[in-house]
Amino acid sequence: MKIGLAYDLKNAVPVALGAPDEEAEEYDPPSTIDALASEIERLGHQVVRLGGGPEFLENVVHTSVDFVFNIAEGRGVYRSREAQIPSVLEMLGLPYFGSDPLTLGICLDKPSAKLVALSAGVLTPRYHVIRQIDQLEALRKEALAFPLVVKPAFEGSSKGVHSTSLAHTWDNLYQSVETALEAYRQPALVEEFVPGTEITVGVLGNNPPTVLGVMEVVPQSGPDDNFMYTLEVKRDWRNLVSYRCPPDLPAACVREIEATALTLFAALGCRDAARMDFRIGRNGMVYFLEANPLPGLGDYSDLPIMASIIGRDYSWLIGNLLNSALERCGLRSLHHAHSASV
Ligand SMILES: Nc1ncnc2c1ncn2[C@@H]1O[C@H](COP(=O)(O)OP(=O)(O)OP(=O)(O)O)[C@@H](O)[C@H]1O
Ligand SMILES: [Mg+2]
Repeated sequence: MKIGLAYDLKNAVPVALGAPDEEAEEYDPPSTIDALASEIERLGHQVVRLGGGPEFLENVVHTSVDFVFNIAEGRGVYRSREAQIPSVLEMLGLPYFGSDPLTLGICLDKPSAKLVALSAGVLTPRYHVIRQIDQLEALRKEALAFPLVVKPAFEGSSKGVHSTSLAHTWDNLYQSVETALEAYRQPALVEEFVPGTEITVGVLGNNPPTVLGVMEVVPQSGPDDNFMYTLEVKRDWRNLVSYRCPPDLPAACVREIEATALTLFAALGCRDAARMDFRIGRNGMVYFLEANPLPGLGDYSDLPIMASIIGRDYSWLIGNLLNSALERCGLRSLHHAHSASV
């Protein structure tokens, strides 16, 4: 099959003057695209590199491909930027890997994803969305409890999540919200901080989707309820964190996390793969933070790390993602899928 690869390379995306240094954080390095292309070729397909943005538009209309493996994050500071490529593909009637534009838009916009979680009966930290700094005063009436986390409303890869994002006082809060609004040019999500265990869950496949693993992110400096998986920690993950899969939590709690991740996968309309982030409070309560229907596939990304800890290598992971999507699109028979996975 002729498979197009849609992606945004870090150095292919123009960075605005004065933008934060993590402006291109979510985009991929060439090594990830090379690794992905060689895995897809190894599965017997021909790979066509379509790129992202205007280059993708040019390529997709001038090259004939049967299917697109999309990992492009999209361009600009738009809450539905991850939906850009899938929207074009739907317009052209081309099948592709991953969730559809609506799911990608909802999940990138954290407040929207939290509303879906709440409607599905899933707990998520109490929050408020600030669009202008003068709305901050109204928050005093909301009775949110300090400490509060301030995050740009529609970012990923911990863009805008630094140790200074944890506000203990009104002064801190004001400062962090102002930075989020100005530097990240989008609303600020102010959320109650959940001290406790940091968890990320990989969910794969359709019909039915299954949990790949429940992984705990543990600070190397020792137990720390106030730990946050910030941009600085993600960049220096080899030195600052270690991973446990399964996590050091009671079996019943792990089962609850798995069930919650599957509930969210369905409620958010995810397909093929997603990674969901949670915090487990001291009381054992499972709090949903956010969902990533376009999980990072670099060797430094949580999903490949999780797969490798449970003994599944990168080839297995990419094969699983591609074949789930092909099967869902009716481009691969179930029999073929099962005989190849054993
Ligand atoms: N309400 C909260 N309570 C405790 N920690 C939080 C909270 N919100 C965010 N964090 C910390 O900040 C990290 C990043 O937040 P979040 O997962 O929302 O951002 P992201 O940039 O979308 O992440 P990703 O890299 O997974 O896309 C979390 O993994 C967690 O460690
Ligand atoms: Mg996250």
